[in-house]
Amino acid sequence: MNIQGQAALVTGGGSGLGEATARELARLGAKVAVLDLDLAQAHRVAADIGGIACPCDITDSDSLQAAIAQAAEQHGPARILMHIAGIGAAKRIIARDGSPAPLEDFARVVNVNLIGTYNAARLFAAECAKLLALEDGERGVMVFTASVAAFDGQVGQQAYSASKGGVVGMTLPMARDLAQHGIRVCTIAPGLFSTPLMKTLPEPVQASLAASIPFPARLGKPEEFAQLACHIATNTHLNGEVIRLDGALRMAPR
Ligand SMILES: NC(=O)c1ccc[n+]([C@@H]2O[C@H](COP(=O)([O-])OP(=O)(O)OC[C@H]3O[C@@H](n4cnc5c(N)ncnc54)[C@H](O)[C@@H]3O)[C@@H](O)[C@H]2O)c1
Repeated sequence: MNIQGQAALVTGGGSGLGEATARELARLGAKVAVLDLDLAQAHRVAADIGGIACPCDITDSDSLQAAIAQAAEQHGPARILMHIAGIGAAKRIIARDGSPAPLEDFARVVNVNLIGTYNAARLFAAECAKLLALEDGERGVMVFTASVAAFDGQVGQQAYSASKGGVVGMTLPMARDLAQHGIRVCTIAPGLFSTPLMKTLPEPVQASLAASIPFPARLGKPEEFAQLACHIATNTHLNGEVIRLDGALRMAPR
């Protein structure tokens, strides 16, 4: 798909990987809607790139539907969904005092990262399927965001790994499901990227994480994620695939 002139939705576009993707899409000529829980951040990015900010909680169907409708009203219906919003979490299944981890903590992470992804996908796809087909019969493309923790989750990452593993698992069946509508689905599984989330860690921890990456031995740049996300949008033959973007990193147990 030619990104130029297309309307695009970027969930989590107010920060980190989402912000970089929103910027890259705008640079390539897309009309970008920045969908985020944090409206101030969404406004900051949207103002900078000539896009629009749409407040939304990806776990809330009404709020997400309203954001998609608001974006469509201003930019026309979107053919590109970059779904990047997500949360991190770490908790051992048995606490130091021997008590079991609260079930609500596990459910919250799965709700945002996995069910939130499905929610965005189903609402976007239903609108996209109504559009006229482009070249090759293509109507739209979705890019999801998993993590290498879907494959090599560390101690304490059960909820996060389960949520991202779920995103990996639904990529192929969703691509198969939507093939008849000409809508592609791919997932990026990032390794360790330098985002506000990562910058909350102390410097020595960030340095040691960077050193664990075979090559290049540095944290990924959000722009590198954005480049891949936009490549997926442009390369029509990429579909149903999960791509690790991690400098050959394989996470250790802890
Ligand atoms: N940074 C990394 O190294 C890394 C590695 C692997 C995977 N990821 C994944 O990449 C994605 C982006 O990570 P990041 O580092 O840029 O994080 P970030 O915290 O900088 O950005 C995430 C954005 O998502 C938004 N968001 C959170 N919950 C939301 C909700 N319910 N509804 C709408 N918006 C919501 C936040 O407000 C924030 O703007 C996440 O899904 C994360 O799990 C990041």
